[in-house]
Amino acid sequence: MLLSSAIANKYHEATKHTPLSVQIDPNYVDPRTQPVAFKTYPHFFRRFPLEPENSLHRFLSLTSAITYQKEYRDGTTQLLRVQPSAGGLYPTELYVQIRGIKGMLDGIYHLEPQNNVLTLIYELIDDGIEGYLHDDRLIHGCIFLVSCVYFRSSWKYKKRSLRYCFLDSGHHLGAIEAAAYILGYPYRLLFDFDRLALNEVFGFENKEFLTAVAIAGEPKEKTARRLRSPMPIVSGSDYFEPNSFIEAGYDDTFSEMPRRYSLQQPIFPLAPPQWLQATQQRRSARRFFPRPISRDDFGMVCEALQQPIPSEQLETVEIFAIVQCVTDMQPGIYRYPFSQKILKAGEFQKQTGYLCINQAIARDSAVVFFFTARFDNYRIALNQAGIIGQRIYLAATALNIGCSGIGAFFDDEVQAFLETDRSILYAMAIGQTTKE
Ligand SMILES: Cc1cc2nc3c(=O)[nH]c(=O)nc-3n(C[C@H](O)[C@H](O)[C@H](O)COP(=O)(O)O)c2cc1C
Repeated sequence: MLLSSAIANKYHEATKHTPLSVQIDPNYVDPRTQPVAFKTYPHFFRRFPLEPENSLHRFLSLTSAITYQKEYRDGTTQLLRVQPSAGGLYPTELYVQIRGIKGMLDGIYHLEPQNNVLTLIYELIDDGIEGYLHDDRLIHGCIFLVSCVYFRSSWKYKKRSLRYCFLDSGHHLGAIEAAAYILGYPYRLLFDFDRLALNEVFGFENKEFLTAVAIAGEPKEKTARRLRSPMPIVSGSDYFEPNSFIEAGYDDTFSEMPRRYSLQQPIFPLAPPQWLQATQQRRSARRFFPRPISRDDFGMVCEALQQPIPSEQLETVEIFAIVQCVTDMQPGIYRYPFSQKILKAGEFQKQTGYLCINQAIARDSAVVFFFTARFDNYRIALNQAGIIGQRIYLAATALNIGCSGIGAFFDDEVQAFLETDRSILYAMAIGQTTKE
């Protein structure tokens, strides 16, 4: 095993669920102690409301919008967003640098989804985020930075939250991808940048870290220098408990980068208006009824998930599908491309339910996907799994099929079940959410 894979696997190993680990630590927390899920810069920063009739504003708003207010019996509420999040804890934040766009001040903004506003946190002159990227040519358009306020997730999920921070970042990137597709902005992703310098200049201390960069804009000839001065230190949670495992796990994902590919844009099988509706309506299914989905719908979901991810540095994520209830498909284990020969025929509902830590959504779904990889870079592999996961959510929603991410599974047992030596990154279930 290469040294880089060994380091990456160290974090995967240490965050595995086993029947014993979930008994010892079932992740019970006192909900009253939950850290806040929104970062807010002080009131005196200039704020710009995102107007629905402005195309760029709509693009920015769609990347992170609140789409549902969930009411609980005890009178509390939770704001749900375009992107899902493990446990609904939302560790990710989004920043956007805007340059050369009429009607907008050139600057770095923080997006406040709870108020649908941009907060201007830094005004640009000849400097910019480009100065921290390998290609420092000025970008006219948007540069998005996705970050994680990791304690929001480690508060509940402890070490395993390292995975959830990266998966949630991937979903947030997937939401940016969807917004870019809907509004016709070409975009690409960067996973390698000077994160030490950027985290410092953003004033993140050890509480927040950048996971990925998305660019929706055109490079110009001139280059940008690094930012003239640091931004103010503003905490992303109302209190904080450091977790050295998460911090080291994050640091180690910048030591080794995967191999380079040429940039390829995804082509989604559904038109932008359908993708928009799916983005606005997407929710995680809380229950499935064991009724079949059609083979065409399954094919459409697969078409969406297989689209290229527009980045030059990628891991290889291999996907298995446990087909449980799809018309005209033999139940059993398939490996992508799923049209090929079945790996193992059989009815595996009981096993998938058990493997996903006795979750009925896995047992009663029509298909459970498992994302696997032999990776060098854990962050990138999990980001990719989250991006693919967001596509599955949107395609399923557009087809009126339910969907849920599943981050909790018995790692080694899933691996044995699939007879693979690849690590299990993530699972997703799709299926019918109504009885008839
Ligand atoms: C990385 C990740 C892991 C998740 N794991 C599970 C899971 O194991 N079981 C489950 O029922 N839901 C899981 N979910 C779904 C979340 O609970 C859900 O996204 C969150 O409550 C917000 O609701 P929404 O997706 O309807 O907006 C997961 C979501 C993500 C993104």
